[in-house]
Amino acid sequence: MAGNWKMYKTPAETIAFFEKFRPLAGQAAHCEVVICPPFTNLAAAVEAVKGTRIQIGAQNIAWAKEGAFTGEISGPMIRAAGATHAIVGHSERRQYFSETDETVLKRTQAALEFGLAPIVCVGERLEEREAGKTEAVLAGQFEKGIAGLTPQQFAKIVIAYEPVWAIGTGKTATPEIAADAHRAIRGRVREKFGAAAADAVRILYGGSVKPDNTRTLMAQPEIDGVLVGGASLDPVSFASIVNF
Ligand code: PGA
Repeated sequence: MAGNWKMYKTPAETIAFFEKFRPLAGQAAHCEVVICPPFTNLAAAVEAVKGTRIQIGAQNIAWAKEGAFTGEISGPMIRAAGATHAIVGHSERRQYFSETDETVLKRTQAALEFGLAPIVCVGERLEEREAGKTEAVLAGQFEKGIAGLTPQQFAKIVIAYEPVWAIGTGKTATPEIAADAHRAIRGRVREKFGAAAADAVRILYGGSVKPDNTRTLMAQPEIDGVLVGGASLDPVSFASIVNF
């Protein structure tokens, strides 16, 4: 159960969030809980979750270890801050910051090289869905952004299916629509990495996940977890998603 805070919260607000969230979900044992705050809050978040089962992730990661890359943050820096995960290829990165499947693959490889678990996002835009291209778009994102990993690397990633039309819009994919997309992605995984890898990989659903729709989404065997934006900003609401 992953929370993506996007560009919200200061370090003080991060500490305040965890004061409330820790007693509600800090020891949740039925799942992994990962919260991805802005880079500037990683240290405060890591400190705030000490002694709990909550893990902290970044929202992006540079493909290089270090160098002249103004504005980027590298894997070793994220690791040194105490984080364990990194979101890669979120649709907002693709849409506003020219992220491509090629850079998604490079960033994913960097995360793995530096010991971070990548949460790799894929998903179709509204016009692609309406044109009946959902499966083709997912296949293309998989082929160019994920299939280049080695089987050993692939075994360490988490995939997040986030239909762009459902993000921040209040329009959740129905559990059936989400499950169909997950099945399509898992099908590609099976072709490329084999049946065991397809069974083992965790595929999260993201896009307007709220406390009141988590249970029906999670009831789909295809949906292994959720990646939550807006509803992860409030400790009570994210705790009720975690404890669905
Ligand atoms: P949302 O965002 O839950 O606010 O729709 C999901 C995401 O972008 O990860």
